[in-house]
Amino acid sequence: MLAAIIFDLDGVLTDTAEAHFRAWKRLADSIGVPFDHAANEQLKGIDRMGSLDRIIGDRPGFNANERARLAAVKNGWYLEEIAGFTPADLFPGARAVLEEARGAGLKIALASASRNAPLLLERLGIATLFDAVADPAAVAAGKPAPDIFLAAARAVDVAPALCLGVEDAEAGITAIRAAGMASLGIGSPAVLANADRVIAAIGAFRLGEYRSA
Ligand code: G6P
Ligand code: MG
Repeated sequence: MLAAIIFDLDGVLTDTAEAHFRAWKRLADSIGVPFDHAANEQLKGIDRMGSLDRIIGDRPGFNANERARLAAVKNGWYLEEIAGFTPADLFPGARAVLEEARGAGLKIALASASRNAPLLLERLGIATLFDAVADPAAVAAGKPAPDIFLAAARAVDVAPALCLGVEDAEAGITAIRAAGMASLGIGSPAVLANADRVIAAIGAFRLGEYRSA
């Protein structure tokens, strides 16, 4: 039985990867550290400070205060990148998936590592379709730990075994599985090999296939 669907946001409902890339690239260039699209791929699902730590590594001269400052600078540039987001930036079919699931009586929750998620939900015009948005600042460990998915399930009062988690990142699928939920990957089966099922894009989601499962 399925009682709730817990969605990741970035890469599942909308494409923010390039916006994150441009902001990180601008920051990396400003401090003379290499960064490319391949490195950006590895940051999907990874929280802001975790991402910065991966970019800088153990290079000397970046203490905790400086890292916090750089993370804030990057976020300012990221906010510039997403300033123009509108409902047109939802992936095709995303809104219909949310509406159909709600119509079927399922709880809908968000488990995004992004502290900008509430803002994006508003800009995308889908904030009112969510029963709960888990706060990444309130969980102990980021993805691949299960914490944020468990927090989202708790927020809608549904047992993890009755939840389907939807993710585009490898770290996210690991988190869903660790939470004891069924997992649906969005993207490439090669990258998301651990997911129970993989579809190419959210628009290919068919609720009936999960309700009867
Ligand atoms: C998502 C993205 C990551 C990003 C993280 C934190 O998981 O896939 O690339 O680093 O959110 O986003 P934030 O908006 O809080 O910096
Ligand atoms: Mg994602």
